Amino acid sequence: MKSLFFFLVVWAPAIYLVASSPPSCKVWLVQSIPTDMPLLRRVPGVLSTGEVLRWLAGNATRRLDLIAQYWQLLAQPGNPESGDYGYSKSDMERFGANEGRDVYKSLENAADRMVNIRILQHSGVYPDYVQESSDLASGRPNVQNVTLLLSDWWESGIVHAKVWISDGKDIYIGSANNDWKSLTQVKEVGVYLVGCPDIAKSLEIYFNNLWRLSSLNSAAYTRLIWDEQWQASRKVPCWSHFIHYKKRCRSPLPPSIEVPHVDGYPVLSDPYMFQIPFETPWFNTSSMLLHSSYLSFAPPELLFGMFQADEQAWVETIKSVRFGGTVRISTMDWLGQSRYLKQTIYWSSLSSAISEVVFSKNATVNVLVAYWAHLIPNTDQYLKSLLYSDILCASSKYNHCGGKVNIKYYMVPGYNKTGAAISDGHATRNIYPGYSRVNHGKYAVSDTRAHIGTSNLVWDYFHTTAGVSFGTYNPAIVVQLQEIFDADWNSPYAVPVEPLKSI
Ligand SMILES: *[C@@H]1O[C@H](CO)[C@@H](O)[C@H](O)[C@H]1NC(C)=O
Ligand SMILES: *[C@@H]1O[C@H](CO)[C@@H](O)[C@H](O)[C@H]1NC(C)=O
Ligand SMILES: *[C@@H]1O[C@H](CO)[C@@H](O)[C@H](O)[C@H]1NC(C)=O
Ligand SMILES: *[C@@H]1O[C@H](CO)[C@@H](O)[C@H](O)[C@H]1NC(C)=O
Ligand SMILES: *[C@@H]1O[C@H](CO)[C@@H](O)[C@H](O)[C@H]1NC(C)=O
Repeated sequence: MKSLFFFLVVWAPAIYLVASSPPSCKVWLVQSIPTDMPLLRRVPGVLSTGEVLRWLAGNATRRLDLIAQYWQLLAQPGNPESGDYGYSKSDMERFGANEGRDVYKSLENAADRMVNIRILQHSGVYPDYVQESSDLASGRPNVQNVTLLLSDWWESGIVHAKVWISDGKDIYIGSANNDWKSLTQVKEVGVYLVGCPDIAKSLEIYFNNLWRLSSLNSAAYTRLIWDEQWQASRKVPCWSHFIHYKKRCRSPLPPSIEVPHVDGYPVLSDPYMFQIPFETPWFNTSSMLLHSSYLSFAPPELLFGMFQADEQAWVETIKSVRFGGTVRISTMDWLGQSRYLKQTIYWSSLSSAISEVVFSKNATVNVLVAYWAHLIPNTDQYLKSLLYSDILCASSKYNHCGGKVNIKYYMVPGYNKTGAAISDGHATRNIYPGYSRVNHGKYAVSDTRAHIGTSNLVWDYFHTTAGVSFGTYNPAIVVQLQEIFDADWNSPYAVPVEPLKSI
């Protein structure tokens, strides 16, 4: 009795300390590396997308919430509408299509274990890009699938976020689609968070907002407006801050910050940050120090609480660079304009942020852009325009400007030999399936902060398209994301973009 008493008195403070220290979550970076890239240096400690998605499904006991653009985890070499058409069984094996099948099976198993699965998806892309989710839902009351067409709400736009949330605590956010090619034929970057209920709770609010939109009558909740900020007529939800604040409707979603006398969404001086210590098991000195982390969301009408818009998070990641430091940016698309609206919008937010740090902070900014079969044709003009910052920087002997922009195209080998193997009954010269062999990751990392998103760098993705990003000041993640970028940047697959000839 006495010794038990002694034990309690002596040990209670220590127990109290352990119990009161904030719960930690584990974090890993996640990649997909296409087959046949022998010259790409592998970064140790990075997980593969296929295994992470399998684990998320495999570990789910109660709930699995998925946001997807489309579904194609099962390859379709027999479907003439598919970019997989005409490849043999051994081709498919060589491409790694089995990884997609394994992820699909792990979802089926979760569904059979009576895990409650909610699937929120865009739709409407041929050949049958919601068949798999429908099959999962078919005959299973525990699996719900909804299609949300954002074009009903924002004129154009799609659900483009790629997010998995398992049991309200384990998470994937990144560039990988629910597509077998995203596991072994497309270069992807994401983040895997394990045991992070606080972050999952906020993500679930966003998920529920999308879910709620899918059941609302968009005709009753949208307006055609003149958008002062972007100088265009466009359709937006009636609670949008692009509408004069006296004329807005009451939002059916949780509120975000209202600012009268301002058009559009304000830049928050103190966006919400999670103060959670991360365990980084792959890092040799797992410090467990507290570092701020955040989520950001698009489009801004889906913001809630003090969360920041995805555009702000990108801009501030660029601006987080220290004097003389380096910003690294990797993206599939880069365009300083909109692409899918009736009126074309000029969009210099990211290129301005880059020029600002090049001019005043002597920063180096390295930008890696995908060069592939579906390159947006005017990409090169915008890249050259960004490179022109270097010329402006050096344009006066009175400038104190020593920063620099460098841009490279990322060419995954085989990028120009993609598509079905058979077309109109004839063999093509393609050697890889359609829509593959591309750098699809979307992230930025300075010397202080890492940002991993699901959006391409084009206006529409920030203002009409559903996207989610995770960012952090955790140095282990910052350093490892830099290493992932540098492995690509310094590989023979990255080729410099030629600057404009100065006149
Ligand atoms: C659960 O996740 C862990 C890693 O976070 C993994 O090692 C384990 O294999 C997963 N379990 C299942 C059943 O997928
Ligand atoms: C969901 O799955 C069912 C099969 O149970 C299918 O009939 C339905 O069309 C799907 N719904 C959507 C919105 O995709
Ligand atoms: C730990 O990691 C740092 C940074 O990656 C590296 O410089 C150092 O050599 C590593 N130490 C060991 C013992 O692996
Ligand atoms: C700016 O950076 C360059 C190299 O990146 C360096 O050579 C130069 O000294 C720096 N200038 C200043 C003013 O720090
Ligand atoms: C495909 O790309 C490679 C590397 O850029 C190039 O050498 C080759 O000529 C291209 N082939 C075709 C058919 O465009």
